Amino acid sequence: MKIDPILLNKYNTGVPRYTSYPTVPFWKDGIDIEHWKEVFNNQFHKNNIDSGISLYLHLPFCESLCTYCGCNKKITTNHNVESEYLNVIQKEWIIYRQIMHEPPIIRELHLGGGTPTFFSPKNLIRLMNSIFENSVIHPKHEFSIEGHPNNTTKKHIETLYNLGFRRISYGVQDNDPEVQRIINRIQPLENVIRATHDARAVGFKSVNYDLIYGLPKQTPASIEKTIRQIIELRPDRIAFYSYAHVPWTSRGQRLFDENDLPTPEQKMALYLIGKELLMNAGYTDIGMDHFALPNDDLYKAWQDGTLHRNFMGYTTQNTSLLLGLGVSSISDAGIAFAQNKKNLHEYYEEINKGELAVTRGYFLNDEDVAFRKYILDISCRNTTVFNPKDLPVLKELTFPELEKLKEDGLVEWDEKEINVTPTGRHFIRNICRAFDLHLLRNQQMDERPLFSKAI
Ligand SMILES: C[S@@+](CC[C@H](N)C(=O)[O-])C[C@H]1O[C@@H](n2cnc3c(N)ncnc32)[C@H](O)[C@@H]1O
Ligand code: SF4
Repeated sequence: MKIDPILLNKYNTGVPRYTSYPTVPFWKDGIDIEHWKEVFNNQFHKNNIDSGISLYLHLPFCESLCTYCGCNKKITTNHNVESEYLNVIQKEWIIYRQIMHEPPIIRELHLGGGTPTFFSPKNLIRLMNSIFENSVIHPKHEFSIEGHPNNTTKKHIETLYNLGFRRISYGVQDNDPEVQRIINRIQPLENVIRATHDARAVGFKSVNYDLIYGLPKQTPASIEKTIRQIIELRPDRIAFYSYAHVPWTSRGQRLFDENDLPTPEQKMALYLIGKELLMNAGYTDIGMDHFALPNDDLYKAWQDGTLHRNFMGYTTQNTSLLLGLGVSSISDAGIAFAQNKKNLHEYYEEINKGELAVTRGYFLNDEDVAFRKYILDISCRNTTVFNPKDLPVLKELTFPELEKLKEDGLVEWDEKEINVTPTGRHFIRNICRAFDLHLLRNQQMDERPLFSKAI
């Protein structure tokens, strides 16, 4: 499938990725922590017994800087930092445990980063034991971790398996030596093969690879080679991310020459080459750059319409409470978001005082909840049905946008529902934007460099 270059240029504007709605730039600084605790506590007691809760633990350290990286990380080769970090994150967990009053039922747990495998297996055991102490582990729990192929050892894999982890995601990004040189991530394919083999041998049931298209110096030939090598290894899932160029927040991205980046047309061509190879190899495009094999649970959730999306990306679990621990982590209590301090020392300082380190966040009103559902439906199912009570706002703000998207062949819609067309699936972020009332009411936000480009 070829995408019209005119459409590509027209829609290649800065648009959010919609891992939350409202999106982070619309959250408020200095949220009311007492109110957050109250909302958290209510959501916890409403959901703990029925569905259990999700936990996200952010482990921020990496040994070297990948220049493209947009994540919150701290670069150091000093492993003494592990111990202090664990002390603080354990204290944070204790503060939340006091708010909960009863043992949490842990259904979903994800270790993200940074590089969680920067931590020694011994320290990962220490961390998990402190989380599991006096908690209940749900019989259908899903524990997952992001591993760096260069430093995930067999010992890490065995330890994680024994702790109940069955899913691992490796950052592969690109196999080409020239691309790897320029992004400062030298990662021989042997390391990916070894780390994948180790995970499978011990019994992990799902291996995901993160790949990125649109990196400097990538060419159609180099991406084809990378994808062909990846297909040979048959990861169960692949996140084929669009490179997000946000040099105003990720300073490392200023270290390479912008002239080495592909144009929007070249970038889309790289994506389409990868997508075609993956589809021919039996992968299904389940939405927003994510692919899965039919044996994977994410594929099954996509098929039966139960796919869900949160800060951890696409997930099969739909718990209504996601608690984020660690520096910069985000919690999602369904009707409120709260983010921890992004600066490591400020995070330490608050927690060491016995306070939560929450600093930014947002309490959703009824309208936000309704439009959040539309955005989630479109990202996970490519369709949504309108609630008649939202029609006045939809008519005023969303429908004029949908009409423009329809003229370009991206959606079919009427006053009852909207369906994304096959071409529209390449522009999901732009379609979600038609439901982003905050952005539509503050069009001047569109002019500021806040979000990465849609393509
Ligand atoms: C925290 S990292 C993964 C774990 C580990 N640190 C690693 O690099 O192997 C999460 C993923 O975000 C993706 N990522 C980071 N920066 C990105 C950017 N600027 N644009 C698109 N994807 C990005 C990468 O694919 C990366 O694997
Ligand atoms: S991509 Fe992963 S290893 Fe590289 S800097 Fe970002 S978080 Fe660290």
